[in-house]
Amino acid sequence: MEILNAFDVAAIEQAASVLASGGVVAFPTETVYGLGADAFNARAVARIFEIKRRPRFDPLIVHVAKKEWVFDIAEHVPLQAIRMMDRFWPGPLTIILKKQPCVPDIVTAGLSTVGVRMPSHPAALALIEALGRPIAAPSANPFGYISPTRARHVAKMFRDEPGIILDGGNSRFGIESTIVSIHDGMIILHRHGAVPVEELNSIGETVREKTAGNVCEAPGELPYHYAPMKPLKIIDHLDEITVSASSYLGFKEAEKQPPSRYVKYLSRDGDMREAASNFFSHLIELDRQDIDVIYAERIPERGLGKAMMERLMKAAKKCTA
Ligand code: TXA
Ligand code: MG
Repeated sequence: MEILNAFDVAAIEQAASVLASGGVVAFPTETVYGLGADAFNARAVARIFEIKRRPRFDPLIVHVAKKEWVFDIAEHVPLQAIRMMDRFWPGPLTIILKKQPCVPDIVTAGLSTVGVRMPSHPAALALIEALGRPIAAPSANPFGYISPTRARHVAKMFRDEPGIILDGGNSRFGIESTIVSIHDGMIILHRHGAVPVEELNSIGETVREKTAGNVCEAPGELPYHYAPMKPLKIIDHLDEITVSASSYLGFKEAEKQPPSRYVKYLSRDGDMREAASNFFSHLIELDRQDIDVIYAERIPERGLGKAMMERLMKAAKKCTA
């Protein structure tokens, strides 16, 4: 396993040639690190599922370097999708569209739709462009575990493969892309993420949260996604902490010190962007400690806070399952 500087042209070319020959590489994006393969090479994509131990029914996101590439991947691109691409691409928004036959079934887990996004991280774009084809990539973590936002997280999570990890620094957003689809002219929100719903609303289209009724259930949206290994409990007050052999993830620094052994704050003064960028890396660190439980302070559900709470709630569900 080699960690290469993602801002070095030779490293990008080396990684692109691994991808071109059917290999898998880890690369930085502005949301989290991805584990990528040539999206049109079904065997290469199959390797991603093996390395991640990810169930085959969980579809991958296809990453493009240019907006126009969408028309080679999607059968139909509705007006609402174009508006969102214009407003949020390159950036952390994944749009689910009807797929063309050239996208292998393994990428989409057999669905007739494909999730597409154009990342904004310069190294991600350089890599996709060097390959000259879209890259299918999930987050670069073993299935169900916390997403990596640093190259060294990825290095610690896997053994031999991926052979190359491109180090492009800390992921700026620190949480995954927002995922949307379009149904009956409405934007359906599948996953809260780095584009807050308030920003989606600003384009003037109708935005609805996904419910069981308005769109068919997507595979992969499992309740225990993003979970740390240790049980996680969401709390509102410090007096809910009953186990001292615990970690505490606070939203913002407070005067009163929690009685937990390890304490981390997402932001000193409650800045949502700072909090999101620390979110997974703090969770990974707290999870690694010799503790029995992680307590997480409830995060205000505005802006990126909504995406963080969605992930905390999934992690907490695993605990009681
Ligand atoms: O920010 C991100 O989105 C990162 C970076 C690497 O781009 N990627 C990421 O991928 O988070 P992943 O595989 O961890 O999450 C992708 C999720 C799937 O679990 C699934 O829920 C949803 O995207 N998805 C992908 N294609 C879909 C489709 N055709 N229909 C419904 N959901 C889809
Ligand atoms: Mg993931």
